Amino acid sequence: MSRLAAPLRASSRALGASSKVVASSTSRALLRPAARNATRALSTTPARRGAAPDPMTGELFTLPDINPNNLVIKKNTNPKAPPPSNQLAFGHTFTDHMLTIPWDATKGWGTPTIEPYGPFHLEPSSTVLHYAQTLFEGMKAYRDDNGKVTLFRPDMNMKRMNNSAQRLALPTFSGDAVLELIKKLVALDKHWIPQEPGHSLYIRPTLIGNQKSIGVGPPNEALLFVICSPVGPYYAQGFKPVALYGTTEFSRAYPGGTGAYKLGANYAPGVLAQKFAATKGYAQNLWLFGEENYLTEVGTMNLFVVLKKPDGTTELVTPPLDGMILPGVTRDSVLALAREHIAGQKIPDLPDNLVVSERPIKMAEVQQAARDGTLVEMFGAGTAAVISPVNKVGFKGEDIHIPTGEDGMGPLSRPIWKHLTGIQRGAIPSLWSVEVA
Ligand code: COI
Repeated sequence: MSRLAAPLRASSRALGASSKVVASSTSRALLRPAARNATRALSTTPARRGAAPDPMTGELFTLPDINPNNLVIKKNTNPKAPPPSNQLAFGHTFTDHMLTIPWDATKGWGTPTIEPYGPFHLEPSSTVLHYAQTLFEGMKAYRDDNGKVTLFRPDMNMKRMNNSAQRLALPTFSGDAVLELIKKLVALDKHWIPQEPGHSLYIRPTLIGNQKSIGVGPPNEALLFVICSPVGPYYAQGFKPVALYGTTEFSRAYPGGTGAYKLGANYAPGVLAQKFAATKGYAQNLWLFGEENYLTEVGTMNLFVVLKKPDGTTELVTPPLDGMILPGVTRDSVLALAREHIAGQKIPDLPDNLVVSERPIKMAEVQQAARDGTLVEMFGAGTAAVISPVNKVGFKGEDIHIPTGEDGMGPLSRPIWKHLTGIQRGAIPSLWSVEVA
């Protein structure tokens, strides 16, 4: 067992130092790196995996991580028949099994169990029910015509889940171990993966704090679970561009906050904002930040804007990962494909004179581009919908119209979507596809 007292002390010193910077400045430029540094300092200590004090010396000992070799499988003796694919509504149907892994502050990670999907027993005092100690991931499994099952870039989800856990002071874990267990779960329920184009199995790994106490602090118990839901295309009737409400009344994220993590607490407050947008006739929120109305995200997705530049290039812009933006897997994939295209690995039909920018973009720039006729397109990118084109943004009482093609997509989103979904379905070979044995 390794002694961890020193790294723990070092990390709390680092956090203390950075916190002072956060408290003493309101500048975006200062606040964000400070918060990032504090988080990074904590995430590099081995103590994040969970540690318990030696009863004699008080020194900290590492606790067991998740061990896939200990997996217990309790098969569902009453399995259901998967519904016809054309009756699937996003996130309403669940497969026969789920994965659960308990964690205890004194014992570390416990026995991983694949068991029948069903309700949990949670005490009313469970911290998750009071203080939103919950985080999640969204990932997908695909099944091709030959029955081969693949996951799309699952390592990214495991990394992000650990970052979220660390941000919520929940226990972290070996991402490789959880991925191995997720593969076992998906393999067991693989007949639930719809094979039709645009269909997949949406996988929802979740981690909650479930200490039986209403005190606020790092919980002494946690539960990691994974459930699976067969899903069809997000837009059943083909691409339907969405109208966005440029939202200034509510904030999704702010410097030093949790916008860069996939926490349940980031989503619940967005529901009222979405209802507000709906009363004004818009489908989703375009989350704007600050007095200068920086564009940040759209609904539950990352955002891309495409602009025609005076030098003849086409610029694909997305807000930078400055601490307020979720590091989306689809966001990263869109950027990587566009950059590979520029570097010579061509994507059919994608313009050649492309420039990729991760940079701040304000509403004033979008308004000006719309006036100049240089606003090419705007789209959201996320695991659930993959690509979601935008045709209108309501801002300060006026509608900005965004061009869309007849199929609802634009000149960049269309080829990128085709290529990305080709990889996801296994039609285009890629290292991003990870096979479930
Ligand atoms: C996604 O699009 O990836 C999401 O996270 C949506 C989910 C909250 C339903």
